[in-house]
Amino acid sequence: MRRHVIWNDTEPVSTILVGRGMTSVLTEMVAGNDHRQVAVICQPSTFTLAERFANVFHAAGIETAGYTLPDGEEAKQLGIVEEVYRFLNARHFTRDDLIVGVGGGALTDVTGFIAGTYLRGVTAMYVATTLLAAVDAAIGGKTAVNVDGKNLAGVFSHPEAVIVDVDILDDLPTEQKIIGAAEAIKTGFIQDTDIITAFEDDGISTDIENIVNRSVAVKTRIVNEDFTERGARAILNYGHTIGHAIESTTGRPHGEAVAIGMVAAGHAAQHHLGFAGADRQVAVLSQIGLPVAAPEAKLETTRAMMALDKKRDSKGLRMVLLEEFGSPVLIHPDDATVRAAFAGIHIV
Ligand SMILES: NC(=O)c1ccc[n+]([C@@H]2O[C@H](COP(=O)([O-])OP(=O)(O)OC[C@H]3O[C@@H](n4cnc5c(N)ncnc54)[C@H](O)[C@@H]3O)[C@@H](O)[C@H]2O)c1
Ligand SMILES: [Zn+2]
Repeated sequence: MRRHVIWNDTEPVSTILVGRGMTSVLTEMVAGNDHRQVAVICQPSTFTLAERFANVFHAAGIETAGYTLPDGEEAKQLGIVEEVYRFLNARHFTRDDLIVGVGGGALTDVTGFIAGTYLRGVTAMYVATTLLAAVDAAIGGKTAVNVDGKNLAGVFSHPEAVIVDVDILDDLPTEQKIIGAAEAIKTGFIQDTDIITAFEDDGISTDIENIVNRSVAVKTRIVNEDFTERGARAILNYGHTIGHAIESTTGRPHGEAVAIGMVAAGHAAQHHLGFAGADRQVAVLSQIGLPVAAPEAKLETTRAMMALDKKRDSKGLRMVLLEEFGSPVLIHPDDATVRAAFAGIHIV
């Protein structure tokens, strides 16, 4: 098992545990834990897994209740948040209790939002059950629900622990692995080219534990350098400026939209900075089955959605571009650069 830690100055705030057979690791963690009760939040797809982890708390004599949210992105709504607040009210939940979210990135985002806001903050733990959650969404303390645009209401709130059980990830349907691989490849493009090489060598059947550990190492390093997201952390948004707009307007899964967004950013960087890696990006993403264009998207609606992007500042839209692999820069793109980005993903 490997342990990654997120620090706020000298205080450890979140531990990410990556390994196999993690229910036994949880059993050790729970021994000596003084939570009075635990709420385990899941989705239909993770109900059985959630039960397995809930049983660990139950066996330790902790009062444990479960709550099942609607699937995927449907859970990231304020109405759902309110339902869970009422569930916690009914159980007389206190700040000494624990909320455990078992699921993919959508589930950990909404669970984190609930934990970060209920009683102004209750301790949370996540079991990240998709590759995307394991390499990205569950790590870094960003939580959110969707309000018109993606993730427009949120709060920074770190889970005390994130459990990544590689046995669970190995069992994921291939299409879920492919979607999660997009964010892993993102960390490869911005910082660790060994991740790109691993996918180039072995495709989607590459060693997932290695990919998770390398990606989590990149993400925790970047978050530790910029805990409150004032600067350096913005590079984690590589592919997301256009990616989020495509996700909202086409309904594609987050990972697919990010893959397309990275291809767009690659073309923008080729135009603006002479980036030479655009073809390699397209090659590795398509090799593992990710889309590299969104011809179904409409230029005007995608641009309008980009105007809602959180990453804007007073000077306008911001994009992360690569000078070369491992060297991201944050720019305000001019119109020609944005047009190059859209043309590169066949949005005209
Ligand atoms: N907070 C962050 O920093 C951050 C970063 C990246 C992405 N995100 C968010 O993460 C979300 C995407 O995450 P995702 O790709 O995990 O999507 P998801 O949570 O919607 O999960 C995808 C699908 O897989 C199912 N699923 C989950 N675990 C499973 C398992 N073990 N076996 C079979 N099916 C399973 C889910 O029910 C869902 O249908 C988006 O909402 C995105 O905004 C957040
Ligand atoms: Zn993302």
